[in-house]
Amino acid sequence: MTAIHPGATDRRGPSAGVVGLTVNDVVHTVDLEPRVSLLDALREHLGLTGAKKGCDQGTCGACTVWVDGRRVLACLTLAVTCEGRAVTTIEGLSGDGDDLHPMQQAFIEHDAFQCGYCTSGQIMSAVALLREGNAGDDAAIAEFMSGNICRCAAYPNIRAAIRAVRDGERRATGDATA
Ligand code: FES
Ligand code: FES
Repeated sequence: MTAIHPGATDRRGPSAGVVGLTVNDVVHTVDLEPRVSLLDALREHLGLTGAKKGCDQGTCGACTVWVDGRRVLACLTLAVTCEGRAVTTIEGLSGDGDDLHPMQQAFIEHDAFQCGYCTSGQIMSAVALLREGNAGDDAAIAEFMSGNICRCAAYPNIRAAIRAVRDGERRATGDATA
């Protein structure tokens, strides 16, 4: 259990407890109150700051991560509900090696960001989008990426990056629609 500084008020509440979180294939045990969001657990307790806190109320998508392979908004997900599930963040996207994930590389090649604050969320959504089969055309990409806001308005370049990875995957699999 986390030690509380002498004289400090213990604000963890009566029900703080140890939670096991598996993030990017690494198991962590952290002392959390049930009210702590997955985003705060990642950023404040595990030091994984790739997922960003834009709005903290589910409207921007900057905090997008995967839980059991499905994209979720980490700011609206309670960390305790992720116990025993597989959490993936941008830090774990490309596995153990130094190579970038193809979507990360495509974002660079297509200049798909300016300030970069939304980018980790955009990339986590973009990879999930392809896996979901929702990237058939630009209208579908725009619709299924609509939860990820970019205040720098890099949307055309983001869509270009997604198209590039989609078309590369189609060529690799011999998909006739490529
Ligand atoms: S920080 Fe989670 S949706 Fe904006
Ligand atoms: S690159 Fe700045 S918010 Fe998207």
